[in-house]
Amino acid sequence: MEPKEKMTDKKAKERIAWLTQELKKHNDNYYVYNQPAINDEAFDVLLRELGILEAQYPQYVLPDSPTKHVGSDLFASAKWSNPITVEEYTDNDTITEKFQQVRHRYPMMSLSNTYSEEEIIEFHQRVCKLLEPEKPEYVCELKFDGLAISLTYQEGKLIRAETRGDGEVGDDVTNNVKTIRSIPRQLYGDFPEDFDIRGEIFMPKKAFEALNHERIENDETPFANPRNAASGSLKMQVPAEVRKRQLDCFLYSLAGDDLPYDNHFDNLIAAKSWGFQTSEYAVKCEREEQLFDYIKLWDKKRFTLPFEIDGIVIKVNSYEQQALLGFTAKSPRWAIAFKFKAERIATELLSVDFQVGRTGVVTPVANLKPIFLAGTTVKRASLHNADIIQTLDIREHDWVYVEKGGEVIPKITGVEMSHRNPDNKPVAFITHCPACGAALVRAEGEAAFYCPNEFGCPPQVKGKITHFIARKMMNIESLGEGKVEVLFANNLARNVADLYDLRYEQLLGLEKVIEKEDGTSKRISFREKTVQNILIGIENSKNVPFERVLFALGIRYVGETIAKKLARHFESMDALMTASEEELMQAEEVGGVIAGAVRHYFSDERNRSVVKRLGEHGLHFEMEKSTALKSDKLIGKAVVISGVFHHHSRDEYREIIERNGGKNAGSISKNTAFILAGENMGPAKHEKAHALRIPIWSEEEFLKFLGLK
Ligand code: IVH
Repeated sequence: MEPKEKMTDKKAKERIAWLTQELKKHNDNYYVYNQPAINDEAFDVLLRELGILEAQYPQYVLPDSPTKHVGSDLFASAKWSNPITVEEYTDNDTITEKFQQVRHRYPMMSLSNTYSEEEIIEFHQRVCKLLEPEKPEYVCELKFDGLAISLTYQEGKLIRAETRGDGEVGDDVTNNVKTIRSIPRQLYGDFPEDFDIRGEIFMPKKAFEALNHERIENDETPFANPRNAASGSLKMQVPAEVRKRQLDCFLYSLAGDDLPYDNHFDNLIAAKSWGFQTSEYAVKCEREEQLFDYIKLWDKKRFTLPFEIDGIVIKVNSYEQQALLGFTAKSPRWAIAFKFKAERIATELLSVDFQVGRTGVVTPVANLKPIFLAGTTVKRASLHNADIIQTLDIREHDWVYVEKGGEVIPKITGVEMSHRNPDNKPVAFITHCPACGAALVRAEGEAAFYCPNEFGCPPQVKGKITHFIARKMMNIESLGEGKVEVLFANNLARNVADLYDLRYEQLLGLEKVIEKEDGTSKRISFREKTVQNILIGIENSKNVPFERVLFALGIRYVGETIAKKLARHFESMDALMTASEEELMQAEEVGGVIAGAVRHYFSDERNRSVVKRLGEHGLHFEMEKSTALKSDKLIGKAVVISGVFHHHSRDEYREIIERNGGKNAGSISKNTAFILAGENMGPAKHEKAHALRIPIWSEEEFLKFLGLK
């Protein structure tokens, strides 16, 4: 909720105090009592309101404000529209160019793993023998499938978060970890003064599915499994982006000199009372059968959990006994992980379909006799490409093994030979496009076959239009895949520019029954309201900024990020269209492959004509320039940017220079006012700057000069 009008000072002060109190109460409910009274969305509305008020009335910000203590991307969008205040530079807004490496205070070991029940018995016998005459008590826990994290707390404050790295030295990911809601920044109760706590950062299944759905929609490669998604997310450079990934964390072990108890289990319970999220599924066991009961229970029930586990962990509870048992070179002798086998079931291969995607790549998809696997019914599985079919020697009507193994799309991992009928014929990879009949081609060194009929092959044409209208691109919500199908069937949309020629009378009354993937069908009718909404949606899309128009074109390898980089660098469609490969490679993150793909796209007359028509229809073909200067402190000054930066990217520094009246110059000359130097500025530049007596400014000096730090 944005405050509609400016409040009186008194009202603002009162509202800030009330919001601060209220949010702190909700934080306690969430972190300490595990009983949130409001949902995340309602919490975020209050937090956002507080953030906006605090930016307007910094004099009333309270020292313990939740905007400083909860990971927040509040200011990401407000950043350029308001004057930047020191308050806004929370560590959340910091861009991490490179993570600092830090040595762990206590090494982060791994666990010895087993898939066999015999080895669990051997483990138990070994432990009993070494502890004789004492008997061990165990704690059985879930083995969360994410990435290990070590957190250091001093005086109740989160000081640092480190990834495992090589076990001795890890990456400092504190700023990113601070965005994870279940990791407290400040503890409650009777916590030790200085200790480390370890756990697993993971991505809940729901968040993973939503993220992959979005990535597919945006034409980005989906993550193979939640673990990869979690580790990819934790290593992102912008904490505000990490926060959106909805990571979560279970803490499972403590290390320190003054922990309250002499055993693992009680310390876990204590950790919960200080505000940590510990697992409610940990249990104490004594007898061997109890260990197996726990294993069996979770091997079965694991698919019902909202997060992934890949096994269970058995730990000796007493610290004294742990010390007696000691460590091998890599892992403790007092713990073992039992890993679940990826569930795999054999089923009959009924047929193979070949699907053509937006870029023309042909993917073989197996239709299977339905089976229940890892919590869901599986009817189809990807066969990836021709090489895999050949390597696995898959034949028609074979019984094939299907596995999920942590991945969402099930895969075929082998053939059950005992069921093979000698008459089964090898699955033949098609030679011609199933949609348009064009002869397929295979690029040198690539596994995929693709249909080269880019402009005439129906799934490619429809795929390009569907990509163009998607939310992160032109956001024409009133159109969707089904309606695009109707337009295509009626010859009204053969490329994205055709959308802007559509007229009311052409659309009214169109109708088509669409067959869906799952075998059901849906009737789509273009009634009056539908048509109006489509036309309004298309018209509104003309306001979409240049970088998204560029992304929407669907140029190979030009995803959301690269589109932004290209748009910022070239500033206009004209400049981009005429840029050579070398010039394209001057833009951040653009290498030879991307530059080649961009050139390939614009060198085709058919693409150029579509782009020209889009321009004539008034789509944004230029970077929007904010006319309002932030200051005139750099007017008339040419600034050279060089090196690697911590606080902003080079593109952002360029924007800051321009918004303060300066100009970003490419090379050092006598006209250079100063060099904005990050780390690793080359020696040649240093020498030249020295010879011409050009001052060299650090990032910090520069930001201070502009009042940004
Ligand atoms: S205890 C000395 N407990 O499994 C090792 N680890 O190879 C202490 N993991 O890197 C680890 N769930 O990332 C422990 N309940 C749990 C766990 C767990 C997942 C991960 C952890 C570790 C790997 C072991």
